[in-house]
Amino acid sequence: MNTHKNYLYIANWKSYLTYHQSVTWLQKHNKEVAELNQHHKIVLCADFLTIAHAHHHKLPLILGAQTCSAHEIGAYTGEIPAQSLRECGITYCLVGHSERRRWCHETVQESAQKITMLLQHAITPIICVSENYKQELMVLLPALHTYNNHVVVAYEPVSAIGTGILPSMDHIETAIGTIKTKIEQAIPQSRCLCLYGGSVNSSNSKELKKINGLDGFLIGKASTDFQELKKIVE
Ligand code: PGA
Repeated sequence: MNTHKNYLYIANWKSYLTYHQSVTWLQKHNKEVAELNQHHKIVLCADFLTIAHAHHHKLPLILGAQTCSAHEIGAYTGEIPAQSLRECGITYCLVGHSERRRWCHETVQESAQKITMLLQHAITPIICVSENYKQELMVLLPALHTYNNHVVVAYEPVSAIGTGILPSMDHIETAIGTIKTKIEQAIPQSRCLCLYGGSVNSSNSKELKKINGLDGFLIGKASTDFQELKKIVE
């Protein structure tokens, strides 16, 4: 197992917690998360209201957003532009999560536009791809052609999200290897960090850490329970 590897842990809280519950979570655990962050990197992707709260109260955390507008500021009712996220101290943002595709009908082309917006405002996109990653990457990669930093991709098979059913370790290792090769060929000046997401919890994380080439995790439900998150990280 890669016990000494510095994994990237992205907590995707989705809409599991209300504003009050998220704020209470942060008030209760922000010091412990900051302590874990001395040796690990945990990015908490909370809802927009909680992000604004954490920024206002200067909580010592790395916060991420779950989505952003595909446009700059302007007449886009209900949208939160990347510029506002940056003003609130956001340095990471999920893009193209399969739930956004399913419930909000976000297209891969829109996800590519969001990547462009995020990069313009110095926010690292966490690019979510599914079993159809080859087709998705064909549309998404042109948005990154001038990028010369780490490209963060999360491989999340739709069949594994929220179901407790993980693909085989071999399947994940192959997908991760292929994704990294594709990205590093398309954007030779960059390095790809590839995460796995889908039903990650403290019972399977040890096994998942044996996967060669894996750089971290995108954790949904399990990340809303601090003790569970801590067990996954440690
Ligand atoms: P899950 O969600 O860990 O609850 O399966 C992962 C995700 O959708 O990011």
